[in-house]
Amino acid sequence: MIKVNTEGTLNFLSTDELRGIDTRKAVDELKTLGDTGWMGLPADYDAKLSAQIKDTASKISGQSKAFVVVGIGGSYLGARAAIEYIKSPNYNALPKQTPDIYFAGNNASAEYLQQVIDLIGDRDFSVNVVSKSGSTIEPSIGTRFFKSMLEAKYGAAGLKERLYITTDKKGSPLREMAAREGYACLEMPEQVGGRYSVLTAVGLLPCAVAGIDIDEIMAGAKEEMDNGLESACLYAAARQALYRKGKKIEMLACFEPAFRYTGEWWKQLFGESEGKAGIGIFPAFADYTADLHSLGQYIQEGERTLMETFVTFEQPRAKLEIPGGTLHDDKIGTLAGMDINKVNQAASEAVKKAHIDGGVPVIELFVPSLSAKSYGAMAYFFERACAVSSLVSGVNPFGQPGVEAYKNNLFAILGLSK
Ligand code: PA5
Repeated sequence: MIKVNTEGTLNFLSTDELRGIDTRKAVDELKTLGDTGWMGLPADYDAKLSAQIKDTASKISGQSKAFVVVGIGGSYLGARAAIEYIKSPNYNALPKQTPDIYFAGNNASAEYLQQVIDLIGDRDFSVNVVSKSGSTIEPSIGTRFFKSMLEAKYGAAGLKERLYITTDKKGSPLREMAAREGYACLEMPEQVGGRYSVLTAVGLLPCAVAGIDIDEIMAGAKEEMDNGLESACLYAAARQALYRKGKKIEMLACFEPAFRYTGEWWKQLFGESEGKAGIGIFPAFADYTADLHSLGQYIQEGERTLMETFVTFEQPRAKLEIPGGTLHDDKIGTLAGMDINKVNQAASEAVKKAHIDGGVPVIELFVPSLSAKSYGAMAYFFERACAVSSLVSGVNPFGQPGVEAYKNNLFAILGLSK
């Protein structure tokens, strides 16, 4: 379960201002909207879906040493975030039985794609193309490359065995291609938008390939779905109340580097859901303590339009004592023998106080651990808080009409028809 503490906003918000945010109305309104299929995903997840994803993952692990996930936005960030969070940001470098996982189709850089191709080298590989619409240009380019590579290496029969599609049930050209050419096809359920899809095969298949217990992810999400409404509403209310007082930017900050891609996922979730009709909190992410040595100055003394949300893990995964002995000549001798997590906690306290004193309100979110279960809980918590917060501000969280502007221009510049 995710806990929320708003004490760090007390210097900036009165209790009445916080209570004045009507999240109950937003929760009711949510029930009347389309595209809310994500809300029931933890309850819909059953043994059949679990087995389908796990069977597909073990087939991939059995046939390949490298696995490429081709997708962008909601079809990319959640899976990468989960693997970095639950396994490690250095997953590929770890000794393991599961395939290395590469992400492609999330940019239009030849440099990046060439590196992924070089990293695969002559190892056996499989590919998962993930796209809800099936027509996004960046993953379409990636698909062409990897489909051609699979065909060149394994022939038409091998291509069929190694290309996996995750896409919408209806209307996606990828689904038609999968049916026509005989690729395994996993479903993005209806009424689930891209950035709300991490708890579907979109996020779960790459996680299962990485050896993550996807049942645990979904159990965490279910627990949060059943018990976490109040805390999601409190987070939504605090950030909206602060927005009304001129805090236009929310800096999500975490003291665990394994959270970095969850920060990227969160930016998409909140940015595309809330930034509409000329309003919306700008979502930014900081990786502490590293970013205290880059963004720290601005946060402390720059324009006072910032609020901060700290994510803290109640049980750190690793424990390491600071080395003692006579070898070291520095100013931290008295810390010898101390668990580094204590320094991290002290840094969090120090930063919180400094930033509040400097005019930055701090909301705190407490997540149990860097486990699969906590990841599921946290994903659900943020999705629900985001939907409620968007509705409180008066915008529909679903749909992202603004993204079309660049896509239309790109299609026009490249002479493509939509
Ligand atoms: O939230 C969304 O729906 C979008 O940001 C998509 O995730 C992103 O544009 C990728 O789209 P698709 O999955 O259709 O390729």
